[in-house]
Amino acid sequence: MEFVTYEQEGYVGIVTINRPKALNALNSAVLEELEATFKAVDLEATRCLILTGAGDKSFVAGADIGEMSTLTKAEGEAFGKKGNDVFRMIETFPIPVIAAVNGFALGGGCEISMSCDIRLCSDNAVFGQPEVGLGITPGFGGTQRLARLVGAGMAKQLIYTARNIKAADAYRIGLVNDVFKATVDEEGNVTATAQENLLAGAKKMAAGIAANAPIAVRNCKKAINDGLQVNIDEAIVIEEKLFGDCFETEDQKAGMGNFLAPKDKKVKVVPFQNK
Ligand code: CAA
Repeated sequence: MEFVTYEQEGYVGIVTINRPKALNALNSAVLEELEATFKAVDLEATRCLILTGAGDKSFVAGADIGEMSTLTKAEGEAFGKKGNDVFRMIETFPIPVIAAVNGFALGGGCEISMSCDIRLCSDNAVFGQPEVGLGITPGFGGTQRLARLVGAGMAKQLIYTARNIKAADAYRIGLVNDVFKATVDEEGNVTATAQENLLAGAKKMAAGIAANAPIAVRNCKKAINDGLQVNIDEAIVIEEKLFGDCFETEDQKAGMGNFLAPKDKKVKVVPFQNK
């Protein structure tokens, strides 16, 4: 792959968009490589993914403006569909995906982060949907996911004004779950950069997720995602079915068995088997 790298650390997979010359902007090739990378993830051996960008300046600076600049109406629609298909695949990916937003998350960059389950960012992160300043609408799900995440009023303000926001504001409106800054020692020397702390924080969260019963975690993701698309009566039925499914798993027996075991037989971390 030219633009996407994948590393496996225990149960956690790290997907990195690596096109630094264009601040990791998404052209067709990057979208295709992302799709191929996700499709190749070994779901038996992987329980959580982290999606990040290479470098310390940009997560993803949007869809590729050069590539979009000459598109016709039909080509524009097809490009939107391409991005939407890949982002929907990420959103519905069976295991959780954490976006580690290490800088600019603009346009398609903000949109890809919103297709992830959880967003963490470094304190230099900048979020925004600048599309109307370029004469287009957000095209990779921004009009839909931003409104669902932060409410229609705030989404409309951000999209209509095309105004970017900094990490602290993204945290305030609930777009990101946490913001990481550099660690500085008593003499003022940086001992860990914001990006290093962000990745460490994302890995810690991913490892915590990976330590839980994998089928239960997957079912939670499906229940939340699918339930949000329907009314509450249908949603609780979705939950009931996924809850019921867990009772067929060995992990449910291991988890509850450990809770009910005598104190001297309990283990601190149940070795869940993904079965
Ligand atoms: N597409 C293509 N190339 C991009 C890009 C993008 N979205 N963003 C940055 N680049 C390129 C620049 O053209 C530049 O390339 P050259 O060195 O070859 O000139 C390189 O990355 C570095 O960028 P800058 O010199 O502009 O860096 P900067 O630090 O001065 O500014 C920035 C950084 C504020 C992020 C600025 O690059 C910028 O505004 N980028 C565009 C952001 C944007 O509008 N994104 C939305 C795109 S539309 C979209 O995403 C539609 C959709 O919903 C599907």
